[in-house]
Amino acid sequence: MSDYGYCREYGVTDVFHEVDAVYRLEQEKLRCPVTAFDGLRAAGPVVWLESQKVFAVTGYHEAQTVLDDAVNFSSANMAGEQATRNYAEMLSRAAALARDAGRTGGTAPLGDAHPLVLAHADPPVHTRQRALVRPSFSAARVRRAESRIAELADGLLDKVVERGRMDVRAEYSDALMSQIVTTELHCPVSDAPTLQRWARIFMRAVGRDLTDAELDEMARARFEFDEYFDHRIDEVRGQPVEDMLGAIVNERVAEDEEPLTRGELLMICELLLQGGTETSGNTTTNIVHFLAGHPSEADRLRADPGAIPAFIDEYMRWDQPDQMLHRTAVNDTEVAGTLIPTGSVVMVHKAAASRDPRVYDHPGELDYSRPPQRSLVFGGGPHFCLGAALGKAQIRIALERLLARATDIELAVDESELRKIPSIVLHGFEQLPVRFRTIA
Ligand code: HEM
Repeated sequence: MSDYGYCREYGVTDVFHEVDAVYRLEQEKLRCPVTAFDGLRAAGPVVWLESQKVFAVTGYHEAQTVLDDAVNFSSANMAGEQATRNYAEMLSRAAALARDAGRTGGTAPLGDAHPLVLAHADPPVHTRQRALVRPSFSAARVRRAESRIAELADGLLDKVVERGRMDVRAEYSDALMSQIVTTELHCPVSDAPTLQRWARIFMRAVGRDLTDAELDEMARARFEFDEYFDHRIDEVRGQPVEDMLGAIVNERVAEDEEPLTRGELLMICELLLQGGTETSGNTTTNIVHFLAGHPSEADRLRADPGAIPAFIDEYMRWDQPDQMLHRTAVNDTEVAGTLIPTGSVVMVHKAAASRDPRVYDHPGELDYSRPPQRSLVFGGGPHFCLGAALGKAQIRIALERLLARATDIELAVDESELRKIPSIVLHGFEQLPVRFRTIA
């Protein structure tokens, strides 16, 4: 099956113009940004993108080299400079709200200190945090979560099957992923909409500059979030709690290890909320969009659910929910013959790198009969996604349950009416209204 029907051919000569149009968040370009970034890769695996003042790394091996090298490439700006700017401003406004509410010094959940954690941290801080959090992502924990994920998926489908239509993003994918992470973070499932709202607001920081009003809204959400999770952390501490928050808070710490601070725990809760919802939710929505346009593929997967994991792996290589990661060079470093000077921002375009023709045959084709492929969808090196197995299980079960209960899934609006998320990093739909027939 070849690339998106609606992606038009382009010439490599206007590639920088094409890429800039994606950066300007033009809806037409956001529909299929990968064509522009494929073109950029054709210009070289590491190129200077003057309009954005970044080194764009689009070759597979080169991207892997940068991701592997946490000594020369810092993750402090991993979500991009706009995100870092938005975030710093939001955190300072949130700290002001905490002070205004009398939550100063030790009583404020975070006070003025918002430590960088995991994906945003560099060694040795990252190494210590990852070692403390990693056991909570064990394969056994993921297996134990599976039946609950299926129950949550069925609960959401129960609400829409009679109707025979739904907005896949709001009523299924995002709702499901936020319910899963809500329960993993030791919160009642009835609070999932609140957590989902916070995640949406925080995610806005990625990929564009925010307005003053948006920054205020985000600061308010951050303040509420800190207050809320401050209590949750106290609830699980020292208790025999099975969920992920319990596992993280109560992880045994060796004598010479420093336990996670409250500030680190709160920041980790936010990272898990975002990491555990947006990417898996976008992937599920994107897959349903694809299946609505390729009903025979939906029928094939329904008839052979055992093929779903290979389909998901290949789909995520081919169409990634978050397309790029950022690093900052902390030393002069050469990658593929290009000198990247200290202080430079490096955009690792993992979606383009995962279609590098030097690594994949016919990379623009979604072909899940090919042997298992490596891809950079979950990153690489020391920051490789801790939630990869959980994320894949979430998407698989969401698809299995949907295909078991709905057939003839089709778009309920014209393709041209679908709006993409206005972000250079995130790749997904704002809504996905579909019609379907219920399987009795
Ligand atoms: C389709 C689903 C997912 C995708 C595509 C994805 C993608 C990624 C990527 C690319 C990174 C590396 C970031 C970097 O190198 O800068 C990452 C890191 C991370 N992800 Fe995921 N993720 C997914 C699901 C999840 C889930 C479900 C969770 C947890 C609930 C999660 C938790 C994390 C954490 C904690 C890190 C930081 C790891 C570290 O820095 O050591 N992710 N993810």
